[in-house]
Amino acid sequence: MKFTNEKLERNAPCWCGSGRKYKQCHMNFDERISRFELQGFRVPKRSLIKTKAQIEGIRESAKVNIAVLDAVADKICIGMSTEDIDRIVYEVTTGYGAIPAPLNYEGFPKSVCTSVNHEVCHGIPSEKVILKDGDIINVDCSTILNGYFSDSSRMFCMGNVSPEKKRLVDVTKECVEIGIQNVIPWHPLGDMGSKVHEHAVKNGYTVVREIGGHGCGVEFHEDPFVSHVSQPGTEMLMVPGMCFTIEPMVNMGTDEIYQDSENGWTIYTEDGKPSAQWEVQVLVTETGCEVITW
Ligand code: MF3
Ligand code: CO
Repeated sequence: MKFTNEKLERNAPCWCGSGRKYKQCHMNFDERISRFELQGFRVPKRSLIKTKAQIEGIRESAKVNIAVLDAVADKICIGMSTEDIDRIVYEVTTGYGAIPAPLNYEGFPKSVCTSVNHEVCHGIPSEKVILKDGDIINVDCSTILNGYFSDSSRMFCMGNVSPEKKRLVDVTKECVEIGIQNVIPWHPLGDMGSKVHEHAVKNGYTVVREIGGHGCGVEFHEDPFVSHVSQPGTEMLMVPGMCFTIEPMVNMGTDEIYQDSENGWTIYTEDGKPSAQWEVQVLVTETGCEVITW
């Protein structure tokens, strides 16, 4: 397969591996991308457009990813440690013949990220962190199956969560739903991100700027960076076949964050107020998107 953007001859086999002639396969598609590029849009490289075979592989990986989060949803309870959640994720993922993507990723020591209350993301599971009544926790699960990556996260409310925290969790989920509705092919990603941001701000919240979604599927983190605070009309064009995550981190107070200086991973809100995040992975289609993990 040819994934460089070299120009193909009309009768050459298409770069997508379909076996069809280029002119009968992706030629019009490539020309459409070129026209947008001439208009000044950032456009995806060919390698970001998933082929049929890659999409199948990513969907299979996603099935495991969803099953792992379902297993966590089934078992999570007050009194459990985040290390217990890590164990569930490891056991269920490997039980399906898959690999937890975070494990040893750039030195990350565990199989999943567990971020409680004012932890924004990349919380490291620990025997010492025990879930208490009133906690909100994000469980962020990423899976590799046969070399294909999937990535999604959910929030869990433990027992009697305050109405303020519950509303943060619910509005953050709405932000993702709005993001999904605004994945419109041949429109720029900034249109989607700005809608997510708008909904959070309308509800009195802020959105983390430095960390966002990402292309995902053939690698864990691919282009583009998916901002959830972007301006309409900016950022890379959303083209059918692209696969990326939507994963806004929504804060009750300031959008400012800092990183744990001891473990080098965990991100916290600067003001100590709670943060919530939901994450889905989507595939851009001709009409909108397919949600492949949640
Ligand atoms: N879903 C998270 C992300 O895309 C997973 C991070 S795993 C870690 O950033 F190992 F980097 F923490
Ligand atoms: Co992610």
